Amino acid sequence: MSKLLICGNRRLEGRVPIYGAKNSALPILASTILCSEECVIHNCPILSDVYVSLKILEYLGAKVKREGHDVIINANSIDRYDIPEFLMRQMRSSIIFLGAIVSRMNRAKVSFPGGCELGPRPIDLHLKALKQMGVTVKEQHGCIECHVEKSLKSGEISLSFPSVGATENIILASVFAKGKTKIINAAREPEITDLINFLNKCGAKIFTNKEGFVIIEGVSRLTGTEHRIIPDRIAATTYMAAAAVTGGDVLLEGICSRHLSAIFPIFEEMKIKTCVVKKQLRLWVEDRPRCVKLVRTMPYPGFPTDAQAVIMALSAFCQGTSVFVENIFESRYKHVDELVRLGANIKVEGKTAIVRGTNNLQGTTVKSYDLRGAAAMVVAGLGAQGETCLLDLRHLDRGYENIEENLKAIGALVKRIE
Ligand code: EPZ
Repeated sequence: MSKLLICGNRRLEGRVPIYGAKNSALPILASTILCSEECVIHNCPILSDVYVSLKILEYLGAKVKREGHDVIINANSIDRYDIPEFLMRQMRSSIIFLGAIVSRMNRAKVSFPGGCELGPRPIDLHLKALKQMGVTVKEQHGCIECHVEKSLKSGEISLSFPSVGATENIILASVFAKGKTKIINAAREPEITDLINFLNKCGAKIFTNKEGFVIIEGVSRLTGTEHRIIPDRIAATTYMAAAAVTGGDVLLEGICSRHLSAIFPIFEEMKIKTCVVKKQLRLWVEDRPRCVKLVRTMPYPGFPTDAQAVIMALSAFCQGTSVFVENIFESRYKHVDELVRLGANIKVEGKTAIVRGTNNLQGTTVKSYDLRGAAAMVVAGLGAQGETCLLDLRHLDRGYENIEENLKAIGALVKRIE
């Protein structure tokens, strides 16, 4: 089992590259199934989840070539409609393939997906929407079988919650459905917009309106295209927190500041300085950061649940008391006990966590239960005195490309032990 040793309390200074967003790359890779010509995806992060997506594409019959951050996919020859359980279980977003496979093959056979442990993660909204589109869905012994007679039906689909994955699945399922499909209460995350932009470049007709509806006008085929994945806003936030916790001064290169609009007010309240020029973000610290009164996770454009853990790790070092309310996932505080092991003062009651800042965190051995929890441990370890050992890097490797090299380049003392 691999682990990361972090020697804390060293000021981080220098430049950090921000790569493409995992949560954008995964649905875009799945959507290439719908294209009858070659797609070239640029800025595709080198991550284990991306590797699994490419394996799924190959299993289905697509031709896949990877050259660094570029991926070339030709899915014209796809001839399978099933995904083996061992691939499905490796990540939650394997479920995004469902809408795409049904759309292309009129049938699909997958098992329930795996992924981060964030409490129950049902896919009822995905399946309900597919049923509304005329798909017969059979769930048996952890297996989902879908079948549609002729083609998927368009119509109005109203989501009771703006689920990111369900919105993506409906978009993929409806690209070829005759007529107009309207998604009411669709998710509006930048990763959804990136997926829509990719599909439109391939010839899809997908629009969003002011009320937040996504409207998909069915087309008969999609071509290929070249597309550049948007920057990873959560990786950017993680490096911002890592620099801030060490009193550092860093320049993040290749960000999109618009996607960070719910993050900047938090850093401002903490009295951490930021300045954006084009795609570069400088962050520096003049005094010990202050607490943040209330962080409430919300669907985009609200504060992202994926940034909650790393901001909490930072707030554990701040002056004063910060309050967090996790509204998206039922069980996304598993990092709290590990932060407490490092000496943080955090109390959780239901959805709320109260963090009393201290500058007395000491390195010890910690583990992670999910991707962002792992990133929070890295942030806390960088700020703590002495050595922190983060066990089991499988979660971290799902979402952070080259993290130890990037941290080393800005002065961190970190070492991966395989
Ligand atoms: C996406 O997960 C992201 N994953 C998550 O990022 C992110 O935390 C989440 O959106 C919220 O922003 C990817 O994009 C690959 P949801 P997803 O469907 O699509 C409930 C990370 O760390 N729900 O918006 O699974 C669900 O239980 C990961 O990068 C239902 O009840 O999120 C949750 O409470 C982790 N029924 C809430 O909605 C459903 O059918 C939000 O889930 C679907 C969801």
